[in-house]
Amino acid sequence: MTWKRTDNCGELRGGDADRTVTLNGWVQRTRDHGGVIFIDLRDRTGLVQVVFNPETDPEAKAIAEDVRNEYVLSVTGTVRPRPEGTVNPNLSTGEIEVAGRQIEVLNTSKTPPFPIQDDVDVDENVRLKYRYLDLRRSNMHDKIALRHRAIQFMRNFLDARGFYEIETPILLKSTPEGARDYLVPSRIYPGKFYALPQSPQQLKQLLMVAGFEKYFQIARCFRDEDPRSDRQPEFTQLDLEMSFIEQEDILSLMEAMFIELVEKVSDKKVIQPFPRLTYAEAMERYGSDKPDLRYGLELVDLSDLVAETEFKVFKDTVARGGRVKAIRAPGCAGYTRREVDELTEFVRRAGGKGLVSIALTEEGLKSPTPILKFLTEAQVQSLFDRVGMEVGDMMFVVADDAKTTATVLDRLRREIANRLSLGDPNLLSFAWIVDFPLVEWDAKDNRWDATHHMFTAPKPEDLPLLDTNPGAVRADCYDLVCNGHEVASGSIRIHRRDVQEKVFSLLNYTEEQAAERFGHLLEAFEYGAPPHGGIAPGIERILMLLTDGENIRDVMAFPKTASGHDPMTDAPDRVDEAQLKELHIEVELPDEDVEEE
Ligand code: AMO
Ligand code: AMP
Repeated sequence: MTWKRTDNCGELRGGDADRTVTLNGWVQRTRDHGGVIFIDLRDRTGLVQVVFNPETDPEAKAIAEDVRNEYVLSVTGTVRPRPEGTVNPNLSTGEIEVAGRQIEVLNTSKTPPFPIQDDVDVDENVRLKYRYLDLRRSNMHDKIALRHRAIQFMRNFLDARGFYEIETPILLKSTPEGARDYLVPSRIYPGKFYALPQSPQQLKQLLMVAGFEKYFQIARCFRDEDPRSDRQPEFTQLDLEMSFIEQEDILSLMEAMFIELVEKVSDKKVIQPFPRLTYAEAMERYGSDKPDLRYGLELVDLSDLVAETEFKVFKDTVARGGRVKAIRAPGCAGYTRREVDELTEFVRRAGGKGLVSIALTEEGLKSPTPILKFLTEAQVQSLFDRVGMEVGDMMFVVADDAKTTATVLDRLRREIANRLSLGDPNLLSFAWIVDFPLVEWDAKDNRWDATHHMFTAPKPEDLPLLDTNPGAVRADCYDLVCNGHEVASGSIRIHRRDVQEKVFSLLNYTEEQAAERFGHLLEAFEYGAPPHGGIAPGIERILMLLTDGENIRDVMAFPKTASGHDPMTDAPDRVDEAQLKELHIEVELPDEDVEEE
């Protein structure tokens, strides 16, 4: 007998009745019903029930009796309709079963450390240690398959529009994107290192100088930063770049791509066209440059109104140049003292000094804060009018410097939305954030930092401000955000040496440093560099949104833990002395070993 499959388990249907098929797959589960053995056989297409009857097929039944979960089998049998009353409408193959005639055990399996089922809660470290088993679970399998389809779609979409897919090197010089580099020591050049690319940024710009005009790559990026739920040390971008274009060209291309992608691979709704907000507007209305726009809960500025009141916390904040802003929480007037205390504690953890809450109930105003006695009725009314309070609502107010007020209210806004279940899980609310400032002041290090990256072009009309007021220079820079996540980021680039040098100098690079690190790019700009720009959506972020995931690990086949460790292979790991020696490396260990998760 040959064990080679003729059919896939999950694809058999009523129309296959009476066919003899050979199936290959894994044992999902077995049951013994009075000597008749039922095996649910699984392959990548799904499950099918195989039945071994001791009366008709004693030999096969005898083997079937001994198989265990996750054994690898080849089964030959006849498809037949299930007996009446045993049809399973929840299974794609639920109308039929296969009467097993022959069975071959292709491999056995130890009992897996967790059941290969979707609905069991397993510690993530165990899942990552046995990732090859975790990925057998159908929901995980589906996510990786969806990732494939999404990437394939993007490839086809861009190919159809004349883009070249071009690979760029992994072993290269530092390509900074604001994180630390992963370094690779060179054996041949003692004391020298390659840096893994944080993105292909400079190379794609050089490909524009090279005249390709439209480039994309499914590009692996490496960033040594602290991982978070939506960050990994190693991740993938759809990296793209175009010449002779303006911001509008990139935005409309991406908008069309994302709308079609969502349509093709998911059931989610998208709001079209994508709204556009300037960075300043997003910060003002949501306190964030990646607002979740599935719900309102906008921040309302009360600074001018409260400056007139006798409530010291607010009045003093405004006098110091700070901001007092509020959120209206609809229907939350009934929050208990405990709930309000919880939110106040939440605000403190987010960096705020406190939280004022005023409830508008049928019986009148209520506040645990001694604020009402400092406000006249008219003042309360003017606050309520501006916030749009209705009976049953609660108003939350935060006072602080502009940045802290924004940060705290952004967090509070998301927390309230969460408590009120405001974010429709079936909606992908994309938006473009545009007109970012070119640079931000880093008060800790006393220097300007690039808001996006140092190759981003200042808006031509703001160029004169570079010398006089760099903080006011806006950039031709855009982010695509969705449901509170930054999905993509890009910009029009500098393509002139003098402008690039000016920006390097603003960012505190000496001429020598700029020449040493970016001399190749500066030189290339002198050989007819075309105007160009691009963008890079994060593949994992997109997949996370498409799959309702909480973290990007679930859409990666082999991710690292939140602390950058791989429990399966135990990377990072020590290496042989001999290897180190060859690389001219001496290791000086910290006093304490870092705990691995
Ligand atoms: P940026 O650094 O903003 O831009 O990255 C672009 C997009 O990549 C994704 N991303 C990540 N995903 C997972 N883990 C990470 N650690 C991580 N870091 C970033 C996000 C982000 O929006 N070269 C520029 C792009 C350009 O200007 O064209 C760049 O890399 O989705
Ligand atoms: P305090 O004067 O610190 O006792 O605070 C009086 C009330 O105002 C308390 O309910 C605090 O939570 C609140 N509060 C204090 N500081 C702030 C602030 N910066 N923003 C909003 N509320 C505040």
